[in-house]
Amino acid sequence: MAPTKKILRALAGETLPTPPIWMMRQAGRYLPEYRATRAQAGDFLSLCYNSELAAEVTLQPIRRYGFDAAILFADILLLPQALGTDLWFVTGEGPRLSTITTEAEFEKLGRGEMIHDTLNPVYETVRLLRRELPEETTLIGFAGAPWTVATYMIAGRGTKDQGPAHALKAENRALFQKIVDRLTESTIDYLSAQIDAGAEVVKIFDSWAGSLKGQDFHDFALEPARIIIQELKARHPGIPVIAFPREAGEGYVGFAKATGADCVAVDNSVTPEWAAAKVQVDGCVQGNLASSHMVTGGQALVDETRHIVQVFSKGPHIFNLGHGITPDADPENVQLMIDTVRNG
Ligand code: CP3
Repeated sequence: MAPTKKILRALAGETLPTPPIWMMRQAGRYLPEYRATRAQAGDFLSLCYNSELAAEVTLQPIRRYGFDAAILFADILLLPQALGTDLWFVTGEGPRLSTITTEAEFEKLGRGEMIHDTLNPVYETVRLLRRELPEETTLIGFAGAPWTVATYMIAGRGTKDQGPAHALKAENRALFQKIVDRLTESTIDYLSAQIDAGAEVVKIFDSWAGSLKGQDFHDFALEPARIIIQELKARHPGIPVIAFPREAGEGYVGFAKATGADCVAVDNSVTPEWAAAKVQVDGCVQGNLASSHMVTGGQALVDETRHIVQVFSKGPHIFNLGHGITPDADPENVQLMIDTVRNG
């Protein structure tokens, strides 16, 4: 049966008169209602594991703006936590994790079905959302890509250049490969459970793909994505997958064909003209307005939004930012972007 929801139609390769729209990090600190629910939950991880409140913050931007998709509220670092890594968030700084840099530390990681003990509340959030979302809204599940998640597990925190992960890759490629393989296997189980719970699309966030070059890009960005997508489609025939190898540059070219992704999300370091010619030729693209426009607004936001819509108008396109919206964004600018996409 042909899909009726706009996001699913675009993912199936249809060129729509106006592109469907959602926004990375659409449930987040720029929204006063998010900050209120977050305060009620306590810390960020408590919010992620509280299914009712996580569903509530997922729904907030849908109620306010009527986006065409909702993205499950969770975090890419819940998976390493489910594998046994310690995880906490330092206010104003970001995530901290116990590190995996030796064989002995790797051997302590769990595998298989055990991840669900920790992640069950996430699947419950998905089930609640499928009941509560408007029927035209698509529910997107997600996970971090193995490389990006590995960079946090190896460094124990976010880093500017992913230095510790690159160092381990250079010093002990076999151990590094084992970490990536374990994450690949667990990501399949995690996304598969989200799909069983009701996710209609899944997205793989490889935020640091751009720091992998040449053979490394092939081995640690492309290959894990290919394996994950192939296995998900074997278990769940027809499930659409969005891949986001952020800042991949030339690596975006052919990524959909090589991995089986139905859509490639592009960041705003590439122009829409380039992405239309090099990426959209293979199918649906998502992107790619700079998130800084959500802070600055005005005519520049309107002009650039129109430009992106126009350049991608000859093929399947899902409008989105090039990366997540930032906490200093103005909610009015989000409305202006949506109105511009929908009304021209
Ligand atoms: O897009 C969405 O709205 C869905 C929810 C979502 C979050 N994180 C919620 C979140 C998604 C898809 C993510 C993905 C994620 N998490 C990525 C990949 C995507 C990207 O943005 O590149 C990464 C690298 C993480 C890890 C992570 N989580 C970091 C580095 C931080 C701290 C930085 C920050 O923005 O504060 C988080 C925290 C986080 N994840 C917040 C949210 C809404 C802010 C937490 C808060 O409320 O204090």
